[in-house]
Amino acid sequence: MASQSELPGPNEAKEFTCGDKTICVANVNDEISAMDNVCLHQGGPLGQGVIEGGKVICPWHGWAYDPKTGAEEMSGEKVAVYPVKIEGGDVMIDL
Ligand code: FES
Repeated sequence: MASQSELPGPNEAKEFTCGDKTICVANVNDEISAMDNVCLHQGGPLGQGVIEGGKVICPWHGWAYDPKTGAEEMSGEKVAVYPVKIEGGDVMIDL
């Protein structure tokens, strides 16, 4: 779905389009994970957020998601997370 060179750098997040879905890919200390891009608060684009303390921070009002579990800190709600595989320079996200 993407090549390894397109992944976000350390402690950055980025949006990727997979079919008709947009996914937020996060790199926390060189660990890559993928979750839904749509914030459960009001639909903000998580992949345009920043990473602080290992959490992806929604750019709209600051909800904080753990990119490994999809859990949001304050609301206790969860976005879907997806397994990521990196093989021979290709990145595969299992939707
Ligand atoms: S839309 Fe994400 S915090 Fe409000």
